[in-house]
Amino acid sequence: MAVLDNGEINRIQQTANIVEIISSYITLEKKGKNYFGMCPFHDDHNPSMSVSEEKGLFTCFVCHKTGNVFSFVQDYENISFIEAVKIVANKVGIEIETGYKETSKYSKHYEAVDLALKFYQNNLKSRDGTKAHEYLKKRGITDEIIEEFNIGYASNNYDTITKLLTNKGYDEEILIDAGLSVRGQTLYDLFRNRITFPIHNPNGKPVGFSARIYEDVKEAKYINTKETPIFKKGKILFNYHRAQNEARRVKSLIVVEGQMDAIRIYASGIKNVVATMGTALTGDHIKLLKKLNVPIILCMDNDEAGEKATIQNGEALSKSAVDLRILRLSGAKDPDEYILKHSKEEFLDAINNAITYFDFKLNYYKKDKNLNKVEDVSKYINQVVKELNKSNDPILIDLTVNDLAANYGIDKNVLLNQIIKIEAPKVEKIAVRKEKKLSKNQKLSSILLYYMMNDIKYIKLYEQELSFIPDEEYLEIANDILAFYLKYNYISIADFISYEISKDNYEQVLSIVDNNIKIELKDADYVGIVNKIKNWICEDKIEELKEKQKNISDINEKLNIANEIAKMKKRMCQNEES
Ligand code: CTP
Ligand code: MN
Repeated sequence: MAVLDNGEINRIQQTANIVEIISSYITLEKKGKNYFGMCPFHDDHNPSMSVSEEKGLFTCFVCHKTGNVFSFVQDYENISFIEAVKIVANKVGIEIETGYKETSKYSKHYEAVDLALKFYQNNLKSRDGTKAHEYLKKRGITDEIIEEFNIGYASNNYDTITKLLTNKGYDEEILIDAGLSVRGQTLYDLFRNRITFPIHNPNGKPVGFSARIYEDVKEAKYINTKETPIFKKGKILFNYHRAQNEARRVKSLIVVEGQMDAIRIYASGIKNVVATMGTALTGDHIKLLKKLNVPIILCMDNDEAGEKATIQNGEALSKSAVDLRILRLSGAKDPDEYILKHSKEEFLDAINNAITYFDFKLNYYKKDKNLNKVEDVSKYINQVVKELNKSNDPILIDLTVNDLAANYGIDKNVLLNQIIKIEAPKVEKIAVRKEKKLSKNQKLSSILLYYMMNDIKYIKLYEQELSFIPDEEYLEIANDILAFYLKYNYISIADFISYEISKDNYEQVLSIVDNNIKIELKDADYVGIVNKIKNWICEDKIEELKEKQKNISDINEKLNIANEIAKMKKRMCQNEES
């Protein structure tokens, strides 16, 4: 892989303001010298991420993720370093060499899926695709929508796409692994005689398909790409790549079940919509949703399964402290049908009237009950009390208790006695980078290097006084810092991190920054550390000499070594004094 020149990377880094760049992803608020926001790298409930404009660094004090503007974009967008540099460069208006081709481990998979997508697309326009095209038209899917969503048609032949791609030089194993072909007696196409809906990853790359029947046949309505290295169902939401910016702009995101629902809503002009593709929201899905930092409107189908999905997804989302609204449509089986029957405006009205998840549950618990019967009332109230016990909103509790007391003639105090005061949930501590237990000397080295990354005066002192650390890994980083300084004649942590990014030391550098970010730099402390490391070097040397002494028989030689050891010890005493 071609790597951009370090000078170029540093130029982009210096031009980019980390606060501005991170603000384009999450909301930051200034507090004192630094900026704070919800950390997108763990399930954050309080703004735990601090961004320092001065240092060019972000750091989360809960999950301990640290880095510079590039590593933020890289991890946030889940892309390679080079891609992150390109994005940042683009944001600050610097043009960079893009002549090289990115090679990823799965580039062949991506290419194959992309070729299949284009092939299916053309098929839909061909005579072969007439019936499928007719079906879409009948459902009100215009050519414009077909184009926008790259909808296609997989022909009814046994192995069209398989042949096409193998003829283009793709290995059979790649086609199987990318979920396009299946091994039977011979290799054949997974999708046959179906309308294909491409599914993209959050970066907008096509990674798989959902394929629908269009005739009245006794087959599964949809067949989807199986799990592949580039298509993980639990990490992908249909239309996320198109919806994310719009969601940030209009400050909400609609989550529906089916891709046809998402397509219909999007085509009506409401573009902040994604689909779960019929699966329950996973932790990774929720991370994607939380990244947007906007309220979520959950709009599942209007049947019993949709109601169950609302509870299941609603529980998961509210546990993750997502600002959640529930939309239940009536008079249509799903959002697709609702918009066709009514209008975009009525759908927007319904969104504005979406209810809280708590209110949804209060209604839900009433459903299977006859509230004229004492037994059912008791069941109902117990369920509501259970919900109240999960809440730490005293106003909500009070209003609900008043309602229950008034509607069912129960003594308010009896209800209140059922409400157990619970503490706010504790924020989980997640260590993203597992901290290694450091020895005393490793800790010293780590602090020494942190000083050096902050100010050239510490690099100069290191050069004069030590130029050496008796630990290979730390020594290598010290040498890298020196090299950086000699090349660019300055030092900054953020720039040094970029400089190290493609090296084996990268993780280690990040953990040094992590571990020491809170220390206050004091010249006197630094001198103390330098002296302690000098002693460490002496101790090492003494050990070495003692070993040597053991193996020597010549008495004069032995005395010489004893002298040297004494000198070393004396030097150590001096180090202690100064
Ligand atoms: N689904 C699936 N396999 C099926 C049925 C459904 O993978 N056999 C997924 C699809 O992603 C589908 C979603 O679950 O979009 C919701 O299913 P459903 O409501 O039945 O489909 P609709 O989105 O309503 O599709 P259509 O309107 O075309 O019938
Ligand atoms: Mn439908």
